[in-house]
Amino acid sequence: MTLFVANYGLEMDLSALSKDDQRKLFAFHVFGKLEGAVTAGMIHLGDTLGLYRAMAEHRDWMSSEQLALGVGLHERWVREWLHNQAAARVIEWQISGDAAVFRLSDAAVDVLGNEESEHFGMGMFHRLPQTMQALYDMPHAFETGVGCDYDSHGPEGAVGIERSFEPWSRANLLTKVLPAVDGLTEQLERGAHVVDIGCGAGSALLMLAMAFPKSTFEGYDISRFALARAEEKLRGSGLTNVAFHHPADSPLPTSASVDFVTTFDCIHDMTSPRRMFDNIFEMLKDDGRWLLVDIKAHDTFEANVTANPMASLMYGISVLSCMSSAMSEPDGAGLGTLGLPESLARSMAQDAGFTSFERLDVDHSVNAFYEISKS
Ligand SMILES: C[S@@+](CC[C@H](N)C(=O)[O-])C[C@H]1O[C@@H](n2cnc3c(N)ncnc32)[C@H](O)[C@@H]1O
Repeated sequence: MTLFVANYGLEMDLSALSKDDQRKLFAFHVFGKLEGAVTAGMIHLGDTLGLYRAMAEHRDWMSSEQLALGVGLHERWVREWLHNQAAARVIEWQISGDAAVFRLSDAAVDVLGNEESEHFGMGMFHRLPQTMQALYDMPHAFETGVGCDYDSHGPEGAVGIERSFEPWSRANLLTKVLPAVDGLTEQLERGAHVVDIGCGAGSALLMLAMAFPKSTFEGYDISRFALARAEEKLRGSGLTNVAFHHPADSPLPTSASVDFVTTFDCIHDMTSPRRMFDNIFEMLKDDGRWLLVDIKAHDTFEANVTANPMASLMYGISVLSCMSSAMSEPDGAGLGTLGLPESLARSMAQDAGFTSFERLDVDHSVNAFYEISKS
């Protein structure tokens, strides 16, 4: 018997241990997952209650009284939360006098408390309650085969997705991603017709529209909650070169009229990804280009589970969110979070008629970037 310890790739051979010790270690391993789930809930609270923000602003050691006072919350509850966070090694602690004091490390400030940082990671924790709520839908989905689309996660689910992807895009979309596509920045400066499919709350599209006033931008999504959020941000932006649509009200373009299509982290969520490749082929001009951004995945389960330390997280999120969305209609393709490796994207592009498929040199922890075109 072997055991992966805490998914860090540290594999222990337990065969020399007694059956009793093997059982104890296995139980420890399993309860480590529960510890992760509960601590993830506490991280959600730290974000939504502004506890991390307050600690990030303070930077120095602080007591539970200081933190509670700063955020206007009850000290006893804040103290217990701090104890969880310190025990989980999420925040630092030391004893000062006869009480504990706490602080965020520099790395923790970026990941937990600074929304402006490209490393800010609270988006997935923002939507943790909605993601876990999906557990109630799962028995029905497992029985019938039909899952739930993104709107099953409610309006806060859409905000969580927005907060998951926006920090990295804000730092890198204009400076690293666009320059990786030959001549694209110049083309957008001159004026081009851009369509973002699966636009979510519109973060990427609004950034592009702000940067390139001579271009026109259209976002499509099947999530009414995400579109409502996108419209709200659009109203606040004053931009006039952007529009958001639900494909049921305003179908995707069918004539070859679009210069540049983007899909960010959504093809693997679609019930009919193959049909979407055809739609994008149809809407692109002959010299148009498609920036396909999707999760880096290996070709097989074996490769994913051995090479990707986040594989269990990703397969779990897939069940609760991505694959559920991709199975949200009968006969959905059900690709899921790790379901669109480069080889599949490449062959689907070829089948749709695209003749060029290039992986772009953009460094991202979980995403791969592809430029796809007809010529
Ligand atoms: C993981 S989110 C990514 C959202 C956005 N691209 C971003 O980066 O913030 C996936 C999105 O794809 C949308 N989606 C799924 N199937 C779709 C379809 N057939 N057409 C348009 N959008 C779709 C979902 O509603 C969801 O908003």
